[in-house]
Amino acid sequence: MSRSGIRKPGKEDPSRAKRVADYGYKKEFYQSGEVADDYDFHRWGSPERAKRNLAKWKTILAALAQTEGVGSILDLPCGTGRFTDRLVECGYQVVGGDISFEMMQQAQKRIGPMKGLLGFVRADAEHLPFPDSSVDCVMSIRFLFHVDPVTRVRMLREMGRISSRWLILDYRHKYSYRFAMYRLRKIFGLAKNPLVRVSRAQLEQEARDAGLKVKAVLPVARVFSDKWVVLCETTS
Ligand SMILES: C[S@@+](CC[C@H](N)C(=O)[O-])C[C@H]1O[C@@H](n2cnc3c(N)ncnc32)[C@H](O)[C@@H]1O
Repeated sequence: MSRSGIRKPGKEDPSRAKRVADYGYKKEFYQSGEVADDYDFHRWGSPERAKRNLAKWKTILAALAQTEGVGSILDLPCGTGRFTDRLVECGYQVVGGDISFEMMQQAQKRIGPMKGLLGFVRADAEHLPFPDSSVDCVMSIRFLFHVDPVTRVRMLREMGRISSRWLILDYRHKYSYRFAMYRLRKIFGLAKNPLVRVSRAQLEQEARDAGLKVKAVLPVARVFSDKWVVLCETTS
């Protein structure tokens, strides 16, 4: 609680995940009604967090501006639909996909029916229930950094299979103040949890391994952010 008595997002919130670099845990974590119910408040329920949300959206728009011929988008995972309705408002035909019914239920409840919103589909990023080249673009935000590199390449390949050309991805990179401080703490044995971040070379390699080509890397903020929005193209 703040001094004014208004609840602020905090460490005790049900949707604050444990800081473990384990994708299996994260995959299960969001399949809980309590977590899904709290998600939007915990992630975006303060002015600072809402500002970060907007910065991410502006970067996604900048990535979309570099695409051509995109009519349909799969938002995967869509979670509670943070960007799903915004994409529809931009005129795209959008499908939301997620492994968690609970998260998609929140999205559906908040967004309601919209022309251009084609619906929500339970989908595992490792085996997507869509035919080859069935959308023009797959967008994957706040997800891939939870996943180990080997699984991530498999998922990217799967996303590339169903996209006729474009992918918009969210990566966490090494070139940040936060990562520099983490390295320092690690040298002195003070780092409690591992902080896994990619280099530009690793990003390019993962894309190649998944049959993709990096077209643009857009930092979400210039100085302190460790987030990139990455625009890729399929190569086959
Ligand atoms: C941190 S949320 C991000 C959601 C949304 N993109 C956003 O930016 O708010 C991560 C989401 O990944 C979903 N998820 C985890 N593993 C998945 C998988 N294998 N396939 C599809 N979705 C998955 C979770 O259910 C959760 O909704």
